[in-house]
Order: sequence, then structure tokens, then C-alpha cells
Amino acid sequence: MRAISQAQPNIALVKYWGKRDVENNLPATGSLSVTLDALWTRMSVEFDDQPGPDTLLVNGAEQPTMLPRVRRCLDDIAGAERPAARIESECNFPIAAGLASSASAFAALATAASKANGRRSDRLSLARAAGRASGSAARSLYPGFVELEVGPDNINLSTLATPEQWPLTVTVAVTEAGSKPVSSSAAMIISRQTSPFYEAWVERQPEDLSAAREAVAARDFAALAAVAEHNCLKMHSVMWSSRPSVVYWNSATLAALESVRRMQDRGDAVFFTIDAGPQVKVVSLPEMATEVADQLRKTAGVIDVLQSGLGDGARIL
Ligand code: DP6
Repeated sequence: MRAISQAQPNIALVKYWGKRDVENNLPATGSLSVTLDALWTRMSVEFDDQPGPDTLLVNGAEQPTMLPRVRRCLDDIAGAERPAARIESECNFPIAAGLASSASAFAALATAASKANGRRSDRLSLARAAGRASGSAARSLYPGFVELEVGPDNINLSTLATPEQWPLTVTVAVTEAGSKPVSSSAAMIISRQTSPFYEAWVERQPEDLSAAREAVAARDFAALAAVAEHNCLKMHSVMWSSRPSVVYWNSATLAALESVRRMQDRGDAVFFTIDAGPQVKVVSLPEMATEVADQLRKTAGVIDVLQSGLGDGARIL
């Protein structure tokens, strides 16, 4: 009754920001992401033989705030009458700081829990279960460039290109190691209720998705860069124009954007994206990776630089 899984975070190039249905955690729009390979969450899920309290250790420490969401995801997969679960999770990058740790965590959880419970679930069912726990987690079940589409009452996912078909590098400038001030779930609700830009954001998302889809199909880096930066800044405009405003950036976030602009001015194939946190993710061709890391390390306020290629979806180890 024990299974161990691994999942990597994914970085959205066309973002998910807002829910159509909060109860079922159904996103308001589709999104498109890349799954990473060097950052990971490894998770062991073990079911007892009878019901009881679940336990959760993340990097050896108890995580009481995460437990309710984890419990709900386990109920979803194994049923509310399920036995108690012992969960141990290990993560090789900072958690809750806008590095998509919830994406890899819930992708790993759905994968290990379903195996430990003796189910033979297909990838899409696991992605849907992970997505009900955290919308972005659904994408971490799939490798490479992943599109999430939203149907009338469920999501569908597909890989548009594998890591081998278009190997890109993602370099993360870590500008703050602590947790974010407001969770994305809470902030999305604030945005939907208060941002004057929210409706326009939702309405224009299909346009950005089709531009990104075409760019991936054509392996057109410049076209992907243009739509990804635009979509990222548009999402942050929705956040900034919410009441209360949701501002995840710090001064090092802006300094890292300037570093990216300087590289682009020299003709380098790089672009940035930023999620619900102050870290800046820089996507580049692999031959640019060393230069990107050097430039970000020199940027004022950047405390660490992580680098990853594109990788596989969640799996049992
Ligand atoms: C900015 O998946 O964390 O990273 O479904 O409420 O758990 P919940 O939200 P979450 O939101 C991710 C938001 C984002 C953009 C993205 O990954 O698409």
C-alpha cells in the first residue's frame, strides 16, 4: 500500500489566472506550459489498513497548513472512506515562493496516491485529480510543452512538443526565498471580483493560446517570446489592478527584467515570465544557458540562480 512518485514543476507561458468554478477548481481559461526536469518533488504515500488521521512531512517538517488540501485530494482519489495516509515529500527547490511547488506536489500526490490505493489510473484522470487540488498541477502530469484546455465541465490536456522535439532551457532568478504574501487561489478570486481588466483578460486568452500553439508547432522562438511576455505582463496587470492590489514583484524582479531586455537588445534568444511570486523565469535556447545564468547572477538582488531543461510528466519511481 505504498508508492513513490516524482513530479517536476511546470512554468506557464500562457497563464492560468481565474476560475470558472471555484468549488471544482475549474480554470476560467486554457493555459500552456513547459514541464521542467531538474527541479523535482518526490513523494511517498503509504495507506494504513484503517481510517485515521493523515500525516504529512515536507522535507522532514510537518506542514499543517497544507494538510486540508492534501486530504481533499486523497479523498478525491481513494474515496472519503479511505484508510489513513502517511505522506512524505521531498523537494529540491524552495516551496511556496512562486516556483510552482504546488504543481509538482499535487501531480506527485495524485500519481503516488492512486498507485498506493491500487488504482490503474490513466494520465488524464490523474491530471484532472491533481488539477482539482491545484489548477496548474494538472499540467505537470505531461511532458514538454503542455496545453490545458477547458471544456464545459472538465479539463483536457495534451503535449504539443516533447522536450526532445524542442529542447529549451529555463533559468530561474530567485529574488526571495520566503513564502508569498497571498496564495494564488485567494488572489485569483480577488482579481475576478475587483479587477476592471479581468473580463478582457479572459476574453483575449484564446488569441494568446493560439499564437503560442502556432509558435510551438513552428519552433518559432521569437513568436513564442512575444506572446509569453505579453501574456505574463497582462496577467500581472490584472493582479496589480485588483483591490486590494496583488503585487508579487520586488526590486530585484524588475532588475532581472532589465537584464533580460539587455540580452534581447544584443540579439540573444531569451524571454522572461513571472508567476505568483517575485522570481523571474528566463526561457532561452540551450546554447544561451551559461550566458543567461551569468547575467542573472550579476543582477542586483538575485540571491540564487537555478537552471533546468524540459522534462517528463509525473511518474512512479
Ligand atoms: C500564476 O495552480 O497555484 O502560476 O488552482 O488555486 O491552486 P490554484 O492555483 P495555482 O495557480 C497558478 C497560477 C500561475 C499561472 C499558471 O501556472 O498558469
